[in-house]
Amino acid sequence: MNKKAILLAGGAGTRLFPLTKIVCKQLLPIYDKPMICYPLATLMLGGLREILIITTPKDLPMLRDYLGDGSRLGIRIEYAEQPKPEGIAQAFLIAAKFIGDSGASLILGDNIFYGKLDFYRDALAIERGACIFGYQVRDPQRYGVVEFDADGKAISLEEKPKHPKSHFAVPGLYVYDERVVDLCRTLRPSARGELEITDLNLLYLKEKQLHVKLLSRGMAWLDTGTQTSLLEAGNYIATIEHRQGLKIACLEEVALRMRFISQSDLAAIIDRLPKGEYRNYLRMVCDEGSSTAAPEPVG
Ligand code: G1P
Repeated sequence: MNKKAILLAGGAGTRLFPLTKIVCKQLLPIYDKPMICYPLATLMLGGLREILIITTPKDLPMLRDYLGDGSRLGIRIEYAEQPKPEGIAQAFLIAAKFIGDSGASLILGDNIFYGKLDFYRDALAIERGACIFGYQVRDPQRYGVVEFDADGKAISLEEKPKHPKSHFAVPGLYVYDERVVDLCRTLRPSARGELEITDLNLLYLKEKQLHVKLLSRGMAWLDTGTQTSLLEAGNYIATIEHRQGLKIACLEEVALRMRFISQSDLAAIIDRLPKGEYRNYLRMVCDEGSSTAAPEPVG
């Protein structure tokens, strides 16, 4: 089982300027909590407790201030810098020591997954190779795109193609075996000067070691790279949360339901929170106890 995870919160967030002039993109609100809670909750719901957050030198202190070393959530968070936006695959080189001789998952700090996360847990159980996902979108040219043959086998992968061969985008959640760091060392920067995650995936594809699982229509995969998608993601989260009276990606709740912390740990956290809606919600979760609801579908 693949136990280590990288959360890549890099980039200057230029497309979101001026929102990102002071606050880093991954701390912008998605409705009622900072963006980074959503990908972090996904990792936690996958059962992962050893997490390396990679971010820019400018944003690192802010993210560390917010999340700390993770101990209050029953997880371990370390931090590392990516000085320049030189590609997603570069994260594995930065993380080489953290990964050691194990495999690792990577999630992008601006990707939101909502729904049943079995697809991710299944991917983590794969012993050899890599696992990526495919999700149908209207505008595949904005993403990595995967093409399948008639038997549903992945046959090509392209990064932001002008003429996409399918409508299946590759979301920013990837799982790799222990060869990932060595394979990243063989990559060369693309025309845009980045070590491309798609090039890494192509190495696995060439070796017939790339698993591609399609996410079902019932899953929501949202990205938050533009003003419009940021607002849409916030509205989506607000709609579901209002309807159910449950929060999505509430990290303290996830930690409790995953049994990373106990009910009394949560009670101690609540005591230190400012009065307000978030505290009231956690009080309700804590009073209900950790056994009343399964971890699904928190996130
Ligand atoms: C990156 C990847 C792309 C992937 C996308 C998911 O794109 O390069 O393959 O589909 O994340 O969000 P970027 O964030 O560089 O636009």
